Amino acid sequence: MVIKTPNDLFIRLLSEINSAEKQITRALPKMARAADDPQLAEAFKEHLEETRGQVERIEQAVDTIPDIRVKRIKSYAMESLIEEGQELIEAGEKGPVLDAALIGAAQKVEHFEIAAYGTVISLAGQLGYTEAKNILAETLKEEKATDEKLTKLAKKDINQKAG
Ligand SMILES: [Fe+2]
Ligand SMILES: [Fe+2]
Repeated sequence: MVIKTPNDLFIRLLSEINSAEKQITRALPKMARAADDPQLAEAFKEHLEETRGQVERIEQAVDTIPDIRVKRIKSYAMESLIEEGQELIEAGEKGPVLDAALIGAAQKVEHFEIAAYGTVISLAGQLGYTEAKNILAETLKEEKATDEKLTKLAKKDINQKAG
């Protein structure tokens, strides 16, 4: 697709996010199964539910803007992040070390999403897509909260090992 205007860029980046969210929806159940700490497994399951809602929110955001449609574009960044996580799962065994690896992999995903949503939200603002901007801001909040939750779980893990 041609990207010449801020609107083209908005569609392109939102389409990438759409692909990213769909990919992580398929990866999160595997991450939950690989987690040893029940709280970590639960956090992944909760975020899976949230992520399903985030995919719907993209649709809702698009519906508020006339004449735009999400394109079929693959997020290679998310594909790589998921692949790296998958390799960690295969290389490790269930326990605190793999949990730490899973937290790290998941936080890379959240940081990527935070950056990606930050950009589209700011573009939506510039383009006057206020409703879409507000809808996507809800998702950004969830990504940030998930990142913080993972940080807490990582600290808990370290504290347990110290004690
Ligand atoms: Fe997400
Ligand atoms: Fe997320």
